Amino acid sequence: MEKSEGRSIRCLVTGAAGFVGSHLCERLLTLGHAVVGVDNFFSGRPENLEPFGTHPRFFFHERSITEPLLLRDLSAAHGPFDAVFHLAAIVSVPYSLDHPEETHQVNYVATVHLVNEAEKLGARSFVFAGSAAEYGTQERMPLREPDAGSWTLWLSPYGEAKYRASAAVASRRGALRGVSLRCFNIYGPRQDPSSPYSGVISRFVDMAVAGRPLTIFGDGLQTRDFVFVDDVVEAYCRAALLENDAESPPCGIYNVGSGRPTSILDLARLICRLTGRPESITFCPERPGDIRHSTASVEAAQRDLGWAPRVGLEVGLKRTIQWMQGEKPIRGAKPVPMSMESR
Ligand code: UD1
Repeated sequence: MEKSEGRSIRCLVTGAAGFVGSHLCERLLTLGHAVVGVDNFFSGRPENLEPFGTHPRFFFHERSITEPLLLRDLSAAHGPFDAVFHLAAIVSVPYSLDHPEETHQVNYVATVHLVNEAEKLGARSFVFAGSAAEYGTQERMPLREPDAGSWTLWLSPYGEAKYRASAAVASRRGALRGVSLRCFNIYGPRQDPSSPYSGVISRFVDMAVAGRPLTIFGDGLQTRDFVFVDDVVEAYCRAALLENDAESPPCGIYNVGSGRPTSILDLARLICRLTGRPESITFCPERPGDIRHSTASVEAAQRDLGWAPRVGLEVGLKRTIQWMQGEKPIRGAKPVPMSMESR
């Protein structure tokens, strides 16, 4: 396959107004590519589009990935896509428990339809946002890609739908290459701390910056694998062959994490130190359904994508804190202005 590096290609990013999707759009534009973004603002936020919303190579459509004709309409309007980055999804695990059928439709059925359409319309790569939730409950760490399978005990419809969608995407190995990135606990600027189910780092930083005690669910000795959003964006670009010189094009499923476990208690202490707050921590009952440990093996991504996490936890936290201190997220923001739609 011809390499995309060095020439401008046309990319579709679903979930463009989301935390990760917005960073990905920005990077693709910086690399010189044309980007069509789609978001229905179910969980994405209009203000995430502001840093690049008026870029001449960015086009935005407020539409849903469940619309059967979405890809056809967008291809007709902008021309065929070289690469599709599919990040739009129901992202809340608790929501998925309350709405299993909707989660199945949005996170699995719509993904299969989108990858089929992308293949028919001549796209060459399809990169999907998989999740560590695909592993369900596991004892052995670090988690390697084959550790998730049809035997897995998923903890939520979210985990099961992501697993099935990843498998469907990763089986594409023809003219269209499918890659699923199983991302672990992503953090960084633009992550919304306002929901009780927001990522722990965004919540802790929000609490510390506001001078409130940090609330730990359980004993704090549970561990997670925290990966900075810029590293995740790099993995997306490499998966679509935008930035690497891999001999053979990658396809399949890859973990994207730091490869290091961090306990929630150590995380809380570090955030207190970095924000210059006294160590003020409250312990609350353990959250139902919480897994105990989660650490990625990132050997496969290193081998096939030439990717490695570069931003250490302390550096990533400093950047997140700086953003949270300087640019408080706007809660309950209004939909995107008309001028940014469907250009
Ligand atoms: C994360 C994903 C989830 C995915 C799962 C798969 C996020 C936001 N969620 O969940 O989509 O299904 O990985 O493994 O990335 N905690 C506190 N205090 C708080 C908030 C959280 O102690 O205020 C604890 C939680 O109880 C948990 C840990 O921090 O033990 C991490 O929580 P969270 O950031 O919500 O992520 P996961 O539960 O790992």
